[in-house]
Amino acid sequence: MANQGKADQQRSYEDLLQGNRDWVDQELEKDPEFFNKLAEGQNPDILWIGCSDSRVPANQVTNTRPGQVFVHRNIANVCVHSDMNMLSVLDYAVNVLKVKHIIVAGHENCGGVAAALSNKQYGLIDNWLRHIKDVYRLHSHEIDLISDQTERVNRLIEFNVIEQVFNLCKTTIVQNAWKERPDLQIHGWVVQLKSGYVKDLKVSCSGTENLGKIFALD
Ligand code: CO
Repeated sequence: MANQGKADQQRSYEDLLQGNRDWVDQELEKDPEFFNKLAEGQNPDILWIGCSDSRVPANQVTNTRPGQVFVHRNIANVCVHSDMNMLSVLDYAVNVLKVKHIIVAGHENCGGVAAALSNKQYGLIDNWLRHIKDVYRLHSHEIDLISDQTERVNRLIEFNVIEQVFNLCKTTIVQNAWKERPDLQIHGWVVQLKSGYVKDLKVSCSGTENLGKIFALD
């Protein structure tokens, strides 16, 4: 049994390398210059901030190609004010790549949000999920009225995306960029796993008007 398990593990690893060779062959067949062009540099218009969940890959969901989407992913697509990783990606995307759109993309049946809505301990990750419990606290009056657990999770997924859109708007990175580039837009999406379609939450922002008085910075 142990040997069989090891053989399966080795095969799944070899499958990745074979998958890579197949991908290179397919791309070269379509365009012999594809990788030469990729190597020249990137000029993406989009920053995607999504969940680490394996079911929501940015390029496939948006039918885009390598080079078109700059990506940051973490568990439950949270944008935390003190997360140097997220802030570095955001700063580079906004100020160097000069992306035109930032998309916060949550997804239905998000395990991170479901965990945050429970009382169970999962370990270290509980500290990360606390940010989502904070979002619940702001909207508990509405979420507590929903009796179906899946619907409760999916509503918190939407509230979480909206909160992270606002969190991005509150950063100095985005607000300073807006002074020179009012075309920079931030959007909130939920990927609906059962259909594949994106639900645009229609919370797109391109200014500080709706942030409340202490969040719009001079
Ligand atoms: Co998720």
